[in-house]
This record gives sequence, C-alpha cells and structure tokens, in this order.
Amino acid sequence: MPYPWYHKTTIYQIYPRSFYDSNADGIGDLRGIIQKLDYLNRLGIETIWISPFFSSPQRDFGYDISDYLSVSEEYGTPGDLKELIDEAHQRGMKIVLDLVMNHTSDQHPWFKESRTSRDNPKADWYLWRDKPNNWQSMTGGSGWHYAPERDQYYWASFLGFQPDLNYRNPQVKQTMLDIARHWLGMGVDGFRLDIFNVIYKDAGYRDNPFSLKIAPAENDPSGYFQEMKYNLNQPQSIRFAKELRSLCDEFGERMLLGEIGGKQDLLRIYMGEQANNGLGLVFDFGMLRFKFTAEYFRKLLEDIEFQFPPPFMPVYVFSNHDRRRSMDRLGGDLRKAKLLHMLQLTVRGVPCIYYGEEIGMTNLRLPFRSALDPIPHKFKFIPRFVFDRMGTTINRDEVRTPMQWDERHHAGFSKAERTWLPIHPNYREVNVEKESVQAGSLLNTIRALLKIRSSERVLREGSLCLMDGLPKGILGYHRHHKAETLGILMNFTDQPRLLTMKYRECLFKVAATVEKKTLKFGSFEQGIEKRSPLS
Ligand code: GLC
Repeated sequence: MPYPWYHKTTIYQIYPRSFYDSNADGIGDLRGIIQKLDYLNRLGIETIWISPFFSSPQRDFGYDISDYLSVSEEYGTPGDLKELIDEAHQRGMKIVLDLVMNHTSDQHPWFKESRTSRDNPKADWYLWRDKPNNWQSMTGGSGWHYAPERDQYYWASFLGFQPDLNYRNPQVKQTMLDIARHWLGMGVDGFRLDIFNVIYKDAGYRDNPFSLKIAPAENDPSGYFQEMKYNLNQPQSIRFAKELRSLCDEFGERMLLGEIGGKQDLLRIYMGEQANNGLGLVFDFGMLRFKFTAEYFRKLLEDIEFQFPPPFMPVYVFSNHDRRRSMDRLGGDLRKAKLLHMLQLTVRGVPCIYYGEEIGMTNLRLPFRSALDPIPHKFKFIPRFVFDRMGTTINRDEVRTPMQWDERHHAGFSKAERTWLPIHPNYREVNVEKESVQAGSLLNTIRALLKIRSSERVLREGSLCLMDGLPKGILGYHRHHKAETLGILMNFTDQPRLLTMKYRECLFKVAATVEKKTLKFGSFEQGIEKRSPLS
C-alpha cells in the first residue's frame, strides 16, 4: 500500500498571532503568512498547520471559538484564507486548520442561548447537571461551573470560559461535522484536532476513581488525585475518530492529526488498532520532555517502531505553543539542536516543527502576574521554582513570542509601536536573515536536512532499523527502501568518537569526517551515509 501524502510530509506549526504582522497592528495575520510562504517553501516545508484564527474573544487566543465559520478580524478575512490556501497549493504545499471540536467560547451564541434556561432550543447542546460530580478539569480544580440562570452547572474540560459541547446530542455532532465539511470543501488539506480525547464523557457521569497521582503527565492525563476514567478516552471518542476519517475520505486524502495525551498504545487505538482507519496521525507528547542522550532516543525509537509499524506513521514533535521550546530544554546549545533535528528529520515519521524552531528561538522568561495566557493566573499561588524544577512551562506566553525575522525593529515581525507579546531580546543574534547567510547555522542545517529528506525516498518511506553494538553515547539506525539504504549516526557525547564501519561507499555526509572506512565524529556531530546494499 502506498503511503498517503500526510505520512510522508513535513509539518510546520504556525501560531498566527506571532508569525508575521502584515498590517502593523502588532498581531500576526493571514496575509502575513501568505507573505512568508516562499520562505517556508524554500526551507523545504510541505504542510502548514495554523493554530486557530476563527472569531474568538481571544481569552485562550483562539482556542475559545465564538464562530467556527468566520475569521477573526485581527487575522484577516475568509478571502485572505482562501488566498492563503490557493497560494500554498500553487507552491505544492498543504494547509491544515486547527479544529477545536470539544468546546466553544462561553461567548459563542450557542452557549449564550443554552445557559438562558433549561428548555431553550440549545438547552442540551452543552453538558449541564444539577450537581457536580468529582471530575477535575485538565487544568486542575473542578471543571463544573455554576450558571444562576439555569441553577445548574456546566462542564468545561479545560478552562471555565470554554464549555464542552454535548456530542451525545445528534444536532451538535452533525453541526460540527458540517463545519469540518465546510472547510474541506473550501480546499483545506486536513485538521489538527484539539484535545480530541475528551470529546465524549461517560453518559452516567460516574465519579472518577481515586488515585495517588498528583500531577497529570504527557503520557498519563490522570492527576489531581483521580484516575481520569470517565471524562477521557471514552469508546465513543474512538468511534468518532473513525467517523471523522470517513468524512475526510470523501474528499480524498485529508490529514487528521490528533492531540491526545496518553500512552502509545492508546494513541494507536485512536489511529485504528489494526488498520490505520482512524486518525491518520497522532502526537506522542511524551517526547516533548525528551532527555538529550543516545539511550533516551534509542528507547524512544524502539518503542515507536514497536507501537506504530507500517501502515501507521508516528509524528516526531519536540516543541509546540503549549510546551517549553526545545532550544530551552537543550540549554541553548546549537550543536545539540542540530543533532535533535537531524534525528527528527531522518527517523521514520512525520516531523512537526514549531515556528522559530528552525532558527533556535528559545523561551522568554516572563512574570506570571502580567501573563496574557490564562493558565499561569490559575497557578500564581504556587512558587515558580516548583515548575522550574519540574521543567514545565506554565506561562505559555514564554513560547509564543513573535517570530524573529531580522535585526530590525521588533525583529522584523511588525511595524507597530507595540507587539502583542514582547520580542525576545536575543533577536539580533537569532533571526532568519542572519542565519540564512551563516554557514553551519541551525537554519541552514535544517534546510539541508529537509532537502535530503525530500530527495531521498528512503527517508520518507523506508523502514528503520536500529544499529546494535555502538559505543555508549552513539545512536545509529539504517533506513531501507527497496535497494536503497541510508545509515545515520549521531554522537550524543561531548567527546570525539571513532567508528569503524563495514560499508563500501559513502556518497555524502553531514558534519562527520570520513576517513576511508572509519567515521570520525566530533562531539555532537552526526553523519548520513548513503550506500549501495551490502553484498
Ligand atoms: C489544547 C491547545 C491549547 C489550548 C487547549 C484548550 O491543548 O493546544 O493551546 O489552550 O487545548 O483548547
């Protein structure tokens, strides 16, 4: 079976507010993305996932939608979106939207109506109860919120101003499917699905069982002293994944990329356990907290190869708009960042690169008090060092600062007097313009890697086989496709390493020095070898 395009692509995540401001209001916009399409195209990006830009009070910056079919004025118009899709398609690129199906804003007309009484036409569009049960929201604390108009409580999985829709109401489900259909009809190439694992809840609202677990983790959402048994991962959500897939299939091959916190075996279930007839791709967020060692990545690759063999395809993601930037986790070490991307772009999987990763943008430390992101306000009573010690970014503003294009005012992001978030002060060093002309910059390394990835079918479609018997600190794997083989080796230590390999030819290399059959690796260096098959 040939792979669908979305199993072979390269994804770039744009947080539209921070990418490029075309109309000098301090906020990025859709026309800004259009203006930067050539940059992304030349970089070698094939698919762009854009975080939500629909009408919204912007309390969670677009993840609180008040109209699914319109574009928020500050980002542009539906016409701009159409133009963006067309311009991307003309360049052979794809556009993927962010579909926030689980909840709306509390300012959505559906919710405004729903909360007015117990018997209005939208009364049953959200989850209402006379009394809360013990469920905790994903952000901690009860997710039940009182509405005096109905003398009832509504359920919100995330924050109180994001009430959950009731998918057991057929009208709700149909309306949301029609919304997906609307965008597919307009030509979008798929969706990233926001917190998809919470869509359905237990019909009987049974209390969650007690657990000793304090904080939720990337691969286990239970926490706040309960097992999230009845508010997450209900069998209906898994069935719904398949329904959405069938809907997408009516339009040809369309990407469905799920945000599902949980263990790898659960992610696999959402993809369709045996055949890949559920979500085409799912994030494995465990790797967002990667440890920078060969041993960590070896184990990651082993687990992923075991859980997601063909026809499944894993996604490799190391940063996003909610979590710490990978450069921050790497202590700002450029050599390590190159190695990380070498891995991301040569393993068997779809890479997902968060905007600014390609130039090594890093977190900007900002006080919780003045945060625009609502999350840190919820946790302002906990001293910051607790989160620092956990390696967790609570103030998501810190990873959403404007893209750093050049050395000019506001890093070339905007001509406004003020930008919505401050620019990272390192922009004079870390920016696209500068790194474009710097040999060996992170940007040029990633560009080179993407070029190899697009020219070498074996990297996009080949199998992956880990090399055994390598010295400690060295990670190596082969990619095979038909008669082609590529060997990839990475030195994760800060000491040079010598490796004697038994291969015949080496056609090209990245960073590693090749002396006859011995590969000499400097610290944190990496090499790709292409060779004819072993006789
Ligand atoms: C997802 C999004 C996050 C948002 C939340 C609620 O986790 O990535 O940014 O705040 O869902 O929609």
